[in-house]
Amino acid sequence: MRESPIVPGLPETLRSALDEELGKYPQNRLTQSVERLSTRYRENAPASAPILSSEADIAAYAGYRMPATYAAVHAVLAEAALRAPGFAPRTQIDIGGGTGAAIWAATDVWPTLEESTVVEQVPGAIELGRRLAENAGDKAVRGATWRRGLIDPAAPAPEADLVTLSYVLGELPEARRADTVRWLSAKASMLVLIEPGTPAGYERIVAARDQLVELGLSLVAPCPHEGACPIPRGKDWCHFSARLPRTGLHRQLKSGTLGFEDEKFSYVVASRTAPERADARVLRHPAKRKGMVSLSLCAESGLTEKIVTKRHGPAYRAARDAEWGDAWPDHSTVD
Ligand SMILES: C[S@@+](CC[C@H](N)C(=O)[O-])C[C@H]1O[C@@H](n2cnc3c(N)ncnc32)[C@H](O)[C@@H]1O
Repeated sequence: MRESPIVPGLPETLRSALDEELGKYPQNRLTQSVERLSTRYRENAPASAPILSSEADIAAYAGYRMPATYAAVHAVLAEAALRAPGFAPRTQIDIGGGTGAAIWAATDVWPTLEESTVVEQVPGAIELGRRLAENAGDKAVRGATWRRGLIDPAAPAPEADLVTLSYVLGELPEARRADTVRWLSAKASMLVLIEPGTPAGYERIVAARDQLVELGLSLVAPCPHEGACPIPRGKDWCHFSARLPRTGLHRQLKSGTLGFEDEKFSYVVASRTAPERADARVLRHPAKRKGMVSLSLCAESGLTEKIVTKRHGPAYRAARDAEWGDAWPDHSTVD
């Protein structure tokens, strides 16, 4: 299998702030929290009370999940930026923002961001997120507004150029998800929803995707069309992967030896303005053999396997470079 696309690791200031925070806890306390949280997240069940329930849990979350959620959000936003090159957000609201991974990722992708706001229910996550952001190089992160709040579709909708909700939908009761998506989309120029790249995460994303189309928003990514999702339900799921470097500490917490990990995610990005939508999306690691590349594509016509050989010239060169999750064709290399 080919590697997943590599995304940048955490910014250095965030990594060192995180190391400092984690250094406040004995290793075994963090390990216990990681084990508890991993088990809880694997249950994939809505939360009737906040999952992050102690300071050590919050620090452990930041240590073992924040690098991965940062990588996933970064990969998604980088793709959104490619599909919407004219989009230059000035404001972002990140809902259920935890310790702030999405504001760090967004300012890295869009340096135009001036005002970032994180809305989060757990005060300890807000405190840690704020401390981590204190020395950020980017002004929007350093000066971010951290607001304690609950997702509340009866309250005024979040109003920002960019609204993000990453790894949160699954914590909401199923009956509240559609209202939440409507609320999030009401005043956002661009809305980004990210979930774990599991069958259940994909189901939540595809339901939100269909709802966003019905609400009149344009899909930016990953979908190359707004027709019904052609993935056969129950048999497959649309998801992507980002390879992130493991820090030393992250390696200890995950008790693994690999120098990287692959974070799997499902996502949808929708906007009020029509994007430069891709013709097709690469749905798996391309099979690359001598003189030939086979691409699994999602296109308006459905799911297809495309074989690109050396005699296709520039298209072959682009196919050699194509990765799982990329748009196809890459118009910068194929004309
Ligand atoms: C899995 S964490 C994801 C954190 C962050 N978005 C990230 O990607 O790293 C889910 C977060 O959503 C928050 N959350 C869950 N339900 C919420 C609600 N109803 N209102 C506000 N925040 C909520 C949790 O407290 C937690 O911080």
